[in-house]
Amino acid sequence: MRRKARLDERVAACREDGRLLVLNVDDRHFQRAVETKEYLDFEKLFGNKNPVVLEIGAGKGQFCCTLAKNFPEINILAIEKSSNVIVDAAEKAISLDLKNCLLVRCDAEYLERYIPEGSVSRIYLNFSCPFPKKSYASHRLTHRRFLEVYKKLLAPGGEIHQKTDNREFFEFSLCEFSQSGYILKNVSLDLHASDFEGNIVTEYEQRFTDMGLPIYRLEAVPG
Ligand SMILES: C[S@@+](CC[C@H](N)C(=O)[O-])C[C@H]1O[C@@H](n2cnc3c(N)ncnc32)[C@H](O)[C@@H]1O
Repeated sequence: MRRKARLDERVAACREDGRLLVLNVDDRHFQRAVETKEYLDFEKLFGNKNPVVLEIGAGKGQFCCTLAKNFPEINILAIEKSSNVIVDAAEKAISLDLKNCLLVRCDAEYLERYIPEGSVSRIYLNFSCPFPKKSYASHRLTHRRFLEVYKKLLAPGGEIHQKTDNREFFEFSLCEFSQSGYILKNVSLDLHASDFEGNIVTEYEQRFTDMGLPIYRLEAVPG
């Protein structure tokens, strides 16, 4: 994707507003990613003690902004590694004046550095990059090394909800969740033909659904 015009200026305006945080700018190779802890203070950031849910790979923010609008009683922390796309998400949250939606430009490699253990009630993985090459498997957000991190971040009773259009990635995810001791529930091989209610459609989901592709979905609970 081409770098957006006036990107730095737009990012600066969103940071000034307070709805966009930019973290880890000085550690591009993750060498110091989790060595130190710099936990975010959710109560201070959101101004309340409401439950926090985490979206990883939030893209342009259609999902997190809709979730925040529909559920003002929960706080949404949406993480995305690309400034080029998260700027759209942050501008969306600002234009809708969503006080319960905070965008964080950060790579998932840093989760343990910034997010306190047992602090999030749900993790959403929407259309995460499938990284089809075998040699990139460890970058997939459902690789077992990430699933172990998510276990630490989730509060008791917490869950992971995943959606994807990619069958191979979904199969890989099912195996990784099982291998890591998660209990799977509400697994669907065609979400839009199922009786699941309350689905919030993401940008990628809309694109794949328009192409007539099925959407795979699962919920996973640490065992
Ligand atoms: C295919 S897009 C999906 C965007 C959005 N969730 C949706 O459903 O429309 C995947 C997004 O995840 C982001 N991403 C991939 N790996 C990531 C990582 N390790 N940490 C944070 N974001 C990541 C990418 O930059 C990209 O914006």
